[in-house]
Amino acid sequence: MSTTFKLDTSTSRANPTPQPMRRLTVPNIRERKSDGVTHEPLVMLTAYTARQAQLLDAHCDILLVGDSLAQVIYGLPTTVPVTLEMMANHAAAVVRGSYHSVVVVDMPFGTYEASPQQAFESAAYLLKTSGAAAVKLEGGTAMAETVAFLSERGVPVMGHVGLTPQAVNILGGYAARGRSDAEAGKIVSDAKALDEAGAFAIVIEGVVEPIAIEATRAVSCPTIGIGASARCDGQVLVTEDMLGMFERVPRFVKRYEDIAAIIGKAAAAYASDVRSRKFPGTDQTYQPKD
Ligand code: KIV
Repeated sequence: MSTTFKLDTSTSRANPTPQPMRRLTVPNIRERKSDGVTHEPLVMLTAYTARQAQLLDAHCDILLVGDSLAQVIYGLPTTVPVTLEMMANHAAAVVRGSYHSVVVVDMPFGTYEASPQQAFESAAYLLKTSGAAAVKLEGGTAMAETVAFLSERGVPVMGHVGLTPQAVNILGGYAARGRSDAEAGKIVSDAKALDEAGAFAIVIEGVVEPIAIEATRAVSCPTIGIGASARCDGQVLVTEDMLGMFERVPRFVKRYEDIAAIIGKAAAAYASDVRSRKFPGTDQTYQPKD
């Protein structure tokens, strides 16, 4: 379906034309895996802005407002400095720009780990201010009590196990996880603990493939892989990575475009036109009416 958008300037809401289908819900996502089988894999991409959401929405089941916006949007070295306000603002923009996908927003580091109560306050703030449908948080068994607490109080939670970037200062980097027996066992038990606590889906990031498959088999809710396995119940990538916005491409990313080259080429052509006074031309300038 080809869709265009009219921006309602009073509400900043992007109104799709033709009228779209109804927005997916968290239960729709959870139900995609039934009796251990997912016939149609879940499609998730990150989005941080309204326009990006408009372009991705019709192709996705879930738009993730990831705290990867730290590096992608803000040029920060890690996700650790991200704040609730940053996440709430970007999530609100993504909700305004979408009509079909479930919007999930990342809980930033330091806003949920202290207690289930702290997590509830942070999650409620994110959902109230943005209109997103669910939150994502990192961590396994240690977060199970919090996931149950939130789920029982109206906050759907997506879990995140394996390589958890907010723990970079403990992990010492972003290398794939699950190479030792101890690490592999922990990833599978973390996924099980989140599933039993009520997570509606679990991201498995940066994990050796057999462990991603084992964790996927071990849980009843859908798993969403990134650097994991095609046998997860769905996949996610950072949109800017798959579009080719950055020179460095992690091994698990498939580049579907070379947007950095396209932008560079356009900027160079613009600069040349400005310097040679070719821009603006007659089509881009206003003349007095006769
Ligand atoms: O922050 C993010 O973009 C993420 C995905 C990579 C899963 O957590």
